[in-house]
Amino acid sequence: MKKTKISVIGLGYVGLPTLVAITRSQKYNVVGFDINSTRINQIKNQVSPIEDTDVVTYLNSNKLFVSSNVSILKNSDIFIVCVPTPVYPDFTPDYSIIISAAKLIAPLLDRGSHFVLESTVNPGTCNEIIKPILESGSNLKAGRDFNIAHCPERINPGDTKWNIYNINRNIGSVNKKNNHEIAFFYRSFLKEVKINEVSSLEIAEATKIVENTFRDINIAYANELAKSFDAMGIDVIETIGAASNKPFGFMPHWPGAGVGGHCIAVDPYYLIQRAALSGFDHKFLKLAREINKSMPEYAVEKLILSLNKISKSIKGTKITLLGLSYKPNLGDTRESPAFEIRDLLIEFGAELVVYDPLVPKESNRNSLSSAIKNAEGILLATAHQEFIDNLPNCLKNSSVKVIIDGRNCLNNTLLPKHIIYSGIGR
Ligand SMILES: NC(=O)c1ccc[n+]([C@@H]2O[C@H](COP(=O)([O-])OP(=O)(O)OC[C@H]3O[C@@H](n4cnc5c(N)ncnc54)[C@H](O)[C@@H]3O)[C@@H](O)[C@H]2O)c1
Repeated sequence: MKKTKISVIGLGYVGLPTLVAITRSQKYNVVGFDINSTRINQIKNQVSPIEDTDVVTYLNSNKLFVSSNVSILKNSDIFIVCVPTPVYPDFTPDYSIIISAAKLIAPLLDRGSHFVLESTVNPGTCNEIIKPILESGSNLKAGRDFNIAHCPERINPGDTKWNIYNINRNIGSVNKKNNHEIAFFYRSFLKEVKINEVSSLEIAEATKIVENTFRDINIAYANELAKSFDAMGIDVIETIGAASNKPFGFMPHWPGAGVGGHCIAVDPYYLIQRAALSGFDHKFLKLAREINKSMPEYAVEKLILSLNKISKSIKGTKITLLGLSYKPNLGDTRESPAFEIRDLLIEFGAELVVYDPLVPKESNRNSLSSAIKNAEGILLATAHQEFIDNLPNCLKNSSVKVIIDGRNCLNNTLLPKHIIYSGIGR
């Protein structure tokens, strides 16, 4: 009997683990497609382009069927789309990539096909943007001939506890019958995962945006508290830690030198823009974005104030920026606030050294000790384990006098006593 053919389109942090999970089930004929031929060659050579332990391990022992040639997608029964959904420089949503993926897939649809979007989008995207493209490009009708589903991915790269195999999912489709069919497929390869069938595409789309804006708003609250508590001289980290021993009704979020990544720093704009089209102004979300976007500048201001305490100007002073990626222990730099910090430090005339062990292309040193050599100030922008573990030792006998811990991750009791240490909100 012919195996059902599944194709995964876009092989990044979401698509590649998905491709591995479906392939591993051995139930389907599975192929992966990406427009980036370098990435495809890496995968063919069993090198993972993403830091995902499961993908790395799987690729070491198994080959995946991948190509940058669109013909690999022919005769697929289920198309799973995991392409990026970024924003333009003016923060308006950039739908161009999901539109081009939909245009690519439309002529390949057949009766009984499922088009599943896993990328994060605002409510309304599947019905308002994707459906007309798929229907006109296939001469088929969604709901009657083929299905459109949205199953937002919740993967958290670098997380050692939560992964594609144990994070519950929501799924919505053009109708209940189709939704049940596609939910059945997801259950077939994600055995431990609860696949919750929601009543519409819009609900499925909205869940993911709600999850990510929740984080943005709560981080903004923590960041605002950090500024207020800095002014009052109260340690906000100890405060939030103590507040979070309440067993209900409180969930800690932490301040820092800015929010990055393609999700939390991006998704609120999708909701803000779509709600505005319906006549609603998301004041709260806009304010949260504004607060979070102010944090790189705030971290640099704290550095300037600390340097003032030792009668130093930032101009002409040797400063080391530690970390460029937006997330600890990953090399992902999308929307990373560290770049704004870097640009500000350059603008203010610092003699700048940049070091991120996971982003060597953007670093101008290749070790922590060489990065802090002769530096007088450090601004830590990413909580990489290497910095937490090794910085206290490297600082012994160093010229560093001031540290701004933009992630509140260092144990300041381990630092040499003469160093002026300051975090965000402490
Ligand atoms: N990374 C995460 O943690 C995460 C978690 C949940 C949801 N998401 C969402 O999932 C989506 C994908 O994110 P990601 O992190 O996997 O992105 P990514 O940049 O890691 O991967 C996207 C891949 O799509 C490819 N691509 C771009 N245009 C294409 C096209 N037209 N056809 C085929 N391939 C194309 C790129 O070459 C890239 O390999 C986004 O909407 C994101 O917001 C990401």
